[in-house]
Amino acid sequence: MAVPREFLDELRARADLAAVVGRHVRLERRGREFVGLSPFQKEKTPSFTVVPDKGFYHCFSSGKHGDVFSFLMEVENLTFREAIERLAGEVGLELPRETPEEAARDSRRAGLKEANEAAARLFARQLESPAGAQTRHYLAERGVQPETIRTFRLGLAPSSGQWLAPALEAQGIPVDLALEAGLLVRPDDGRAPFDRFRHRLMFPITDLRGDVIAFGGRALGDAPAKYLNSPETPLFHKGATLYGLAAARQAARDQQAVIVVEGYMDVIAMHQAGFAHAVAPLGTALTEAQLALLWRLSDEPAICFDGDAAGQRAAARVAERALPQLVPGRSLGFVWLPAGEDPDSLLQRDGPAAMSRALAAVTPLADLVWRLEWGARPLETPEQRANLEQRLDARVAVIGDRRVAHWYRERFREYLRGAFPYGAHRAGRPQARSTGRFGERPATAGLRQPVALPVGRPDLAVLRHRQIEGLLAAFINQPALRAERRGDLKHLAIDDPKLDKVRLELVNPALSGLDTDGLRAHLTACGWQEELDRILSRSVNELAGFAAPGTPLDEASRRWREELAFASRRKSGVKASGGTHMQVQD
Ligand code: UTP
Ligand code: MN
Repeated sequence: MAVPREFLDELRARADLAAVVGRHVRLERRGREFVGLSPFQKEKTPSFTVVPDKGFYHCFSSGKHGDVFSFLMEVENLTFREAIERLAGEVGLELPRETPEEAARDSRRAGLKEANEAAARLFARQLESPAGAQTRHYLAERGVQPETIRTFRLGLAPSSGQWLAPALEAQGIPVDLALEAGLLVRPDDGRAPFDRFRHRLMFPITDLRGDVIAFGGRALGDAPAKYLNSPETPLFHKGATLYGLAAARQAARDQQAVIVVEGYMDVIAMHQAGFAHAVAPLGTALTEAQLALLWRLSDEPAICFDGDAAGQRAAARVAERALPQLVPGRSLGFVWLPAGEDPDSLLQRDGPAAMSRALAAVTPLADLVWRLEWGARPLETPEQRANLEQRLDARVAVIGDRRVAHWYRERFREYLRGAFPYGAHRAGRPQARSTGRFGERPATAGLRQPVALPVGRPDLAVLRHRQIEGLLAAFINQPALRAERRGDLKHLAIDDPKLDKVRLELVNPALSGLDTDGLRAHLTACGWQEELDRILSRSVNELAGFAAPGTPLDEASRRWREELAFASRRKSGVKASGGTHMQVQD
């Protein structure tokens, strides 16, 4: 029901903003204003200001600004509607009466909720009953604990197609309502309605408040579709709902973070492993409405993907959707799981620590976009490089917010300069190589000197360093690539002694049988944890998309060789006999 503007104004005028804020923030009066520590982000000096006369607050550290409604929505994670109801209750205003149409719509929604709630109870009871033994066993095998089953209200839909209608009717839910809720299906040939969900593990889908609005069902036998959802109803819009949102809300607010995983079981496994701030879309790519929901919980929702090719494609789709919607301070992060794993399987296999590690290495949206374009095509010729620049420009062009677009452009420029410093050098610094012009080079002239950069340029030596780390990262992440290209790295001398030790381990034939995890464990045991972290960190992946786990071998191999060639050419010319010699400055 839409709330009339006058009512909102009245409510805003009556609400005591300082008192509402004061429940969350310790405020100190400064004249007509109050100040306190920001509730939106950690700070030491109070920058959060409340101006009760004007009815707004402003947070100078996060840039957030709003009235009493937005404060409640942000800080208590309420919907607009809930914020209104809460305040109206507090100041003793009664919500305006609905029109008859609104009343009819509301009561229809209430009816649909009742039908879903009754079904959820029936499914849960069925799972607890003797008939649910096999399914309980299945869940136990998958590591789902009884408490988790209760938290998520998992249930069982039996195989019979005629089970639900009578059970619901016994609870006072008429067949028509169950049909409208999508719990039953009416056959075209006029026979009796039958159960939509048969022989399936049932996942109730709730709205923000936790009311059941739909179901997802996982096949327990061999059904053509592994998962089946309720159809769209006046209550349920698949593209505007996130599975697990009600359960995740509090944790997300506490941690100022939310994680998006792919499936029902992933949400459940995450929650059980202590990552209560996990949600999932319902079998489709994230929609704009879902992104908006996520951004209400956190400024930078993290999205988990399988590190395989399909995961990368899915990430690319999300990036495309998100770019037009960015505003200052609001972005997305991307988290990569080992190829072939989903959060559920990773947690089963390696436990929560492995998940934490994956979550710690977030790729920011901007870096993902860079990586996608950087890895998409060869970058050997000037035309190809110009094309990369053009593709990056096109990406920036879809960003709706001018300021954000500006900083994306800056970031990509920085990366381009880092990736092709030779070009940057020629264009920007014609004097840089003049030391030896009169044949008087100092003895060190043959070694690459750190390039003196104009103020504001990124440190190219660092970027080059990362490029070498990218070469090593690819070897660690992709055992097949290591097997194929090991010879190339055999004679490559890297001036950073620690990195060079890691390189030696990577070409050590005795270790050729180790997979990524084994290799990581070995390097850690050798005392190279710090180098390992650095090598596998996102700063490397920014410049070396091909180093990401799960990059198809032929692509990784092609890019790896290109990269090696770039890296070698960029060197001022010292070649060790029998191999490429590279030097790296710290
Ligand atoms: P997956 O096939 O990856 O399944 O689908 P899963 O979540 O790992 O489930 P388990 O571990 O095999 O039990 C991921 C998500 O895609 C949607 C569901 O939301 C599912 O959770 N999906 C999948 C469908 O909507 N329909 C399908 O037929 C399959
Ligand atoms: Mn799974």
